[in-house]
Amino acid sequence: MSFKAYRVDSVDGRVCGKIVSREIEDLPPGDVLIKAEYSSVNYKDALAATGAGKIMRSMPLTGGIDVAGSVVSSTDGRFKAGDPVLVTGYDLGVAHDGGYSRYVRVPAGWVVRRPEGIDAREAMAVGTAGFTAALSVLRLEQNGLKPENGPVVVTGATGGVGSLAVEFLGGLGYNVTAITGKADQVDFLKGLGAKQVLLRSEVEMGTRPLEKTLWAGAVDPVGGATLAWLTRTMMQHGSIASCGLTGGVELNTTVMPFILRGVNLLGIDSVLCPMATRIEVWRRLATDCRPKHWDSIIHAVTLEQLDGVFEKLMKGGATGRHIVELTD
Ligand SMILES: NC(=O)c1ccc[n+]([C@@H]2O[C@H](COP(=O)([O-])OP(=O)(O)OC[C@H]3O[C@@H](n4cnc5c(N)ncnc54)[C@H](OP(=O)(O)O)[C@@H]3O)[C@@H](O)[C@H]2O)c1
Repeated sequence: MSFKAYRVDSVDGRVCGKIVSREIEDLPPGDVLIKAEYSSVNYKDALAATGAGKIMRSMPLTGGIDVAGSVVSSTDGRFKAGDPVLVTGYDLGVAHDGGYSRYVRVPAGWVVRRPEGIDAREAMAVGTAGFTAALSVLRLEQNGLKPENGPVVVTGATGGVGSLAVEFLGGLGYNVTAITGKADQVDFLKGLGAKQVLLRSEVEMGTRPLEKTLWAGAVDPVGGATLAWLTRTMMQHGSIASCGLTGGVELNTTVMPFILRGVNLLGIDSVLCPMATRIEVWRRLATDCRPKHWDSIIHAVTLEQLDGVFEKLMKGGATGRHIVELTD
């Protein structure tokens, strides 16, 4: 039985993807064979497929760092045919054939049973980006963040991580400020739950080691100068979930926010997040953090449309989440 997959390869030093026909026997070894229903598009997928970032450790490789579907067969007793499952992170789409494929075979240790309350389409609308947003919220809560502590801020707010962080925090009763570069997306962000929307170009960042305190918590997929500014404007014992780098990888700040205001800088790693935490995050995603605004967040695309979506993400022009429909 042959099926379609989006494979990335380096030809004459140029990285690009194309749709190919594959057979089950072509898949890498693994315990669990999954019939995929949906995958998703993350910034990392765009970096990988365009070669803008050195993401893939071997090529050619099927792209896609996320997948959701059902088990076809399993040699591991934890899973049986028909089980609804999902995989995000680990080596998927990085060093092991990924989710842009109707069939995917992976080690059982990567597989999460999809909880009731969230279907495969919704799970991939969450995907790595939404999982990262939810993991950020969990880690902020574990470090004492509560709605009554004060305002929280989400940067890169229209992106995958950002838009879902706004949605989760808004739904949990936080007073959310969204920061975006897109002036035309204010209504979108308010619809997701932001009380206030600030334009990136209008944020006055200052240069002092400690600026006026503004935020009790922050989810930051942007990094760079934005993250440095956040460290300078956190309230006493506030926490920042540092989860991305769309605005840069450098961090120029001082120790002052940490030793005088007790600010917590929390590193967020979705890829090798321990399984127990993964299961807890997905439980939250299917219950109290379950997004309510799927219609404004989800854009469905096919494998054939992936190149255009990657281009949009690389230009910082995407809003919400792109899911990839995988059909026979
Ligand atoms: N830590 C982890 O495990 C993990 C997991 C997933 C993603 N990430 C990282 O998180 C980041 C976001 O991923 P994503 O999938 O949400 O990407 P995305 O959907 O492309 O969103 C990125 C958003 O960042 C903002 N942005 C783009 N260029 C910017 C710039 N120069 N300065 C400031 N903001 C800029 C834009 O939002 P606005 O126009 O609204 O500002 C853009 O929509 C990436 O760096 C990704 O690698 C990390």
